[in-house]
Amino acid sequence: MKSILVAIAVLVVFNCGLVQAKNPLPEGEGRNLVSKKCQACHSLDPIMKMRGSREQWSDMLDEMINNGLALNDKDRGTILEYLGTHLGPSPKK
Ligand code: HEC
Repeated sequence: MKSILVAIAVLVVFNCGLVQAKNPLPEGEGRNLVSKKCQACHSLDPIMKMRGSREQWSDMLDEMINNGLALNDKDRGTILEYLGTHLGPSPKK
C-alpha cells in the first residue's frame, strides 16, 4: 500500500511542473490542483479545517465559483473526488 501511495505521489509531482514546495494537503490525485486553484485567493487553512461530504464540498465549490473561482467540469470532478476522499466526514487513515 505504501509503495502505491509513493508511486501516486511521484506521478502527481511528475505531472505537475509547478509543484508547491510546501503543501500541507494530504497526498492524492487532485492535490496539486486544489493547491493551485484554491490558493489563488486564500491559504489552504480554511480547506484543511473543513470536513465534509462530497455534497457539502460541492456546495462549497459553488460558493467559491460565486467568489470568482474558474473551474471546468473536469477539474471540478477531480477536486470533488479529492476533497470528498481525503477531507471527508471521516477521512481515510
Ligand atoms: C476567487 C477567489 C477564491 C478561490 C479561487 C477560492 N476561494 Fe475559498 N474563499 C474565498 C473567499 C472570499 C472566502 C471567504 C468568504 C466566504 O466564506 O465565502 C473563502 C473561504 C473558503 C472556505 C471557508 C468557508 C467558511 O465558510 O468557513 C473554504 C473551505 C474554501 N474557501 C474552500 C475553497 C476551495 C476548496 C477552493 C478551491 C477549489 C477555494 N476555496 C478557492 C474565495 C476563493
